[in-house]
Amino acid sequence: MHSNCLIVFSIFLLFDVARCSYQTITECPEMCVCENTICKRRGKSRRLECSGVAVSCYGKGLDQIPPGIPANVTGLSFSNNNFRVIDLDYFSNFTRLTDLIVNENNATELRIGRDIRSLKRLTLKGNQLTALPPKGLTKIKNLLTLDLENNQIQDIRGVRFPRKLDLLNLNHNQLRALPAGIFRKSKLLRVLKLNNNRIDTIHNRAFKYLIGLESLEMEGNLLRTLHKDAFTGLPKAWYLNLKNNRISDIHPMSFRLFGFKNEFHHQIHLENNKLRFFDRDLLGIFITRENHYSFHFAGNPIFCDCNLINVRDEVKHLIGDTPKMVCDSPEENRGTNVNVLEIETCCF
Ligand SMILES: *[C@@H]1O[C@H](CO)[C@@H](O)[C@H](O)[C@H]1NC(C)=O
Ligand SMILES: *[C@@H]1O[C@H](CO)[C@@H](O)[C@H](O)[C@H]1NC(C)=O
Ligand SMILES: *[C@@H]1O[C@H](CO)[C@@H](O)[C@H](O)[C@H]1NC(C)=O
Repeated sequence: MHSNCLIVFSIFLLFDVARCSYQTITECPEMCVCENTICKRRGKSRRLECSGVAVSCYGKGLDQIPPGIPANVTGLSFSNNNFRVIDLDYFSNFTRLTDLIVNENNATELRIGRDIRSLKRLTLKGNQLTALPPKGLTKIKNLLTLDLENNQIQDIRGVRFPRKLDLLNLNHNQLRALPAGIFRKSKLLRVLKLNNNRIDTIHNRAFKYLIGLESLEMEGNLLRTLHKDAFTGLPKAWYLNLKNNRISDIHPMSFRLFGFKNEFHHQIHLENNKLRFFDRDLLGIFITRENHYSFHFAGNPIFCDCNLINVRDEVKHLIGDTPKMVCDSPEENRGTNVNVLEIETCCF
């Protein structure tokens, strides 16, 4: 059985692979599985010591916490049950709990009353939450990851996010707008996922306080225009995903100062939008830093004229996917790849 005892350092793995038969956990609700996790060998005797206790009660139709969960539990999963209200007060007696997963419960409400200090990762995917408690989340003082993918959240106006938050996943919700200053309390946020919402408006101060953000994903929204300095408030960013929107109009100064304090290679994805024309300045302002930025435009209905060829040739190192860019118009160039367009055929 020795080989069965995986040594894991990440609690994320704990429900999938960590199975350790050295220390059996005697105290465990009968419908749940309880296991030691985060195990390390120590000392001369190479004795195995585990610091984590993982409890998974998966798909048992539970609508409340069953009795008998070890008080020193560190990771708890109630996925595929029947919790209609997720009340974090019920978990506040588990003072070592760092990971709580309540996916796929059709829960419609998240309640947070008391401060809860131990929790680092909260995962509530695939529920029916329509709103978040406006002040409640800040009571989870040490929360690093909040995963709300696949809910029905419509509005986050007035919601305060925890100060230490590192990753916020709001993919596949019903958000329509990003209000001004919404993230002002979360200066440490590094990854923000807003894919597949209905966002058509980014307030011009929405990202103002996200001074630590590295990755912003807004694929599959309803954006049409990008205004001046839309992404200026993101000095550390290097990844921006705006694929599959309806963007037809980009102010040439939209990306000015995007990630200016980050020396990584920056990727800006604009594939599958409604862009027809390219303003020279949009890319031209990056020409002195062309090794640090790449823009991606495949899948846009590009109008291929001399201007486009000039832009292409002038800033070619900034465009990451010219071979995949296809002309949509004018008629004589329709279907031609942008990389093979020649000035002679295009302009005379
Ligand atoms: C958790 O508590 C049980 C019972 O009190 C104890 O046997 C076990 O060693 C504890 N585990 C950890 C990792 O603290
Ligand atoms: C939490 O612990 C307190 C005191 O130890 C106890 O009175 C209370 O019932 C517990 N709450 C839950 C939800 O188990
Ligand atoms: C959640 O709701 C859907 C549709 O109403 C239903 O099919 C599913 O069984 C429900 N899941 C649970 C865990 O109750």
